[in-house]
Amino acid sequence: MSKALGSRYSIEHSDDTKEYFEFVKDLIDDDVVNEMKKYRHHYSTNCYQHCLNVSYYNYLVCRKLGLDSRSAARAGFLHDLYLYDWRERERKKGEKRHGTYHPRVALKNAKEHFDIDKREEDMIVKHMWPLTIKPPKYAESYVIVCIDKYAAMLEIGVHLGRKMKTKAQSIKRTAR
Ligand SMILES: [Fe+2]
Ligand SMILES: [Fe+2]
Repeated sequence: MSKALGSRYSIEHSDDTKEYFEFVKDLIDDDVVNEMKKYRHHYSTNCYQHCLNVSYYNYLVCRKLGLDSRSAARAGFLHDLYLYDWRERERKKGEKRHGTYHPRVALKNAKEHFDIDKREEDMIVKHMWPLTIKPPKYAESYVIVCIDKYAAMLEIGVHLGRKMKTKAQSIKRTAR
């Protein structure tokens, strides 16, 4: 069962997420996409969960704005398909530009395994804008730029919340 962080709907089983599920069901089951579960992203969130979060909220916002919500859902799921541990890579290879080069790696992998249209391509490769200099071509790409940051904040917030709760419980236990 998959759920976007902060959402109460099960993507596979809820009536409210039927359309979204139709758009991404092949990605949810795909081995390459599932490989992202191996890599930690923001604190306790893995890359797969982060991409699911971006995909779902990207879909909701684009649908609300009357934009291409199918492309939004699919590009969101594939936007960080770089398939490596960036911390390890920076440590081992001394590379410090993960923020600017990973969108190109994700696009290359996405193109290799799926049919990507021009809009989805722009959303994946520009999602780190303005860090990557070339500005987005489509309205949907500006949306993913914002949603990616929103998802990151949400993931960090949930992680810190859990940590604070554990700390408070341990203080309580010691005080007893
Ligand atoms: Fe990214
Ligand atoms: Fe991301």
